[in-house]
Amino acid sequence: MKTAKIILFIAAIAIGLTSFQTIHSTQMSSSTKNGGVADTLKIDTESGLVDSPSLMMVKAQCTACHSSKLILQHRFTRAGWTERIRWMQKYHKLWDLGESEKVVLDYLEKYYGPSSVEARAAFRRAPLKDIQWYKVNERR
Ligand code: HEC
Repeated sequence: MKTAKIILFIAAIAIGLTSFQTIHSTQMSSSTKNGGVADTLKIDTESGLVDSPSLMMVKAQCTACHSSKLILQHRFTRAGWTERIRWMQKYHKLWDLGESEKVVLDYLEKYYGPSSVEARAAFRRAPLKDIQWYKVNERR
């Protein structure tokens, strides 16, 4: 029966998608070199941003006009993030963040700064260390 096969196929995809989402909502962990202490990061599945007590505030202030992807794609220093905010305020009608600007900047600096461990863990592997280079032509 052809229809039965199609239904089975759709069910298989649905089950596959469900388990895929489960994997993604579980914690992303990374072990770091800071004294062997393993850092554990939780990623908010809806936005892809690092979960933290400030996340709700960041989402309220920063995902009203555009997707969180614009944040995820960048790594700036605190000054760099401040500059972006001023730029959006000047050209894109971003409002005055008031008291929450500090909360938002603390969050961005911590998780989406150029060298934050959290950002690296969420973004890409840590850079290689202790690389021993050798000349390609050298016979060893
Ligand atoms: C009032 C609307 C609005 C809000 C709220 C807003 N933005 Fe933006 N943002 C924009 C617009 C418009 C752009 C330009 C989008 C484009 O180029 O496609 C932008 C671009 C960006 C970019 C890309 C800048 C670049 O150099 O390419 C980043 C990063 C960014 N926003 C971060 C944030 C953060 C962090 C917050 C929270 C403080 C925020 N945005 C809140 C309107 C907003």
